[in-house]
Amino acid sequence: MHPRVKLLGFLGVVALLALAAVSWPAAAASQIVLYSARHYGQEAAFEAFTRKTGIAVKVFTGNTAELFERLKAEGDRTPADVLLTVDAGNLWNAARAGLISPIDSPTLEANIPAQLRDPGRRWVGLTVRARTIVYNIDKVKPAELSTYEALGDPRWKGRLCLRPSGYIYNQSLIATMIKRHGEARTEAIVRGWAANEPTLIQGDTNVLKAIAAGQCDVGIANHYYLARLLAKDPGFPVAPFWANQQTTGTHVNVSGAGVTAHSKNRANAVKFLEFLSSPEAQQMFADLSMEYPANPQATVHPIVAKFGKFKADDINVAAAGEFQAAATRLADRAGYK
Ligand SMILES: [Fe+2]
Repeated sequence: MHPRVKLLGFLGVVALLALAAVSWPAAAASQIVLYSARHYGQEAAFEAFTRKTGIAVKVFTGNTAELFERLKAEGDRTPADVLLTVDAGNLWNAARAGLISPIDSPTLEANIPAQLRDPGRRWVGLTVRARTIVYNIDKVKPAELSTYEALGDPRWKGRLCLRPSGYIYNQSLIATMIKRHGEARTEAIVRGWAANEPTLIQGDTNVLKAIAAGQCDVGIANHYYLARLLAKDPGFPVAPFWANQQTTGTHVNVSGAGVTAHSKNRANAVKFLEFLSSPEAQQMFADLSMEYPANPQATVHPIVAKFGKFKADDINVAAAGEFQAAATRLADRAGYK
């Protein structure tokens, strides 16, 4: 072999080794692993993050209970950097179980209102959902509606559809009422609902469809389920009523995320959450999932804008977790199955 060819070959090998030495750690650091119990309208934001930063997002989906068990079982060997889930009650539980750990980020604090963040900084709300009264527009006049409490009025006997009390969205609603009114008054409210013999239906979408079909006249649901049904059928005969406007405000909850306690990529995980809180990503969430953006700089979906402005309950959403166990016991005592 010609000595120059030999030299070039040798240099080539050196270059390859150098490349490998440089690129392997970089490749390992340029990915984060996300455990996600959110299933809707987020991929665009993840892709935008990767385009912007070069950091890939490897998503592993499951329901909240599965992901919690997985994180617990994996302990400090977990590949997960970020946990994303729905409901402040679930985020609160993850924090209490030590699955997620405090984040120090002035960006998150600037982008997301304090009411939507963990006071202990372990999770941050990324999207907002209003859980309010919904009614059949052909059968109910808005003037007949006022508060969650008033759904216990005898006029709604046999006309109320609810999701069962065991579902976390309802536990969080009741938990927030306990924080607001105390146990005794909240129990009286829930007893009122139970006395109206609500038809129990699995899933908010099914509650809305039952109201549209005339199986019942009023119910409680998260606003985005109604918005999605209206997007498919603008004539869907159900409207939202903003509950408790003269008093405590409508119950709101979040989907949100935290950095896992054993993340090996903390800096990139925080970068990811900061991006998801940015106006750009928040707009993608709002446009695709029809939730309210947690960052007030993004705008709501046009269908949701038609629901009108409302006063939201302004207590910290962490109350959903704080009083979750009490809410479950209370619903049981009150006869709300
Ligand atoms: Fe939902």
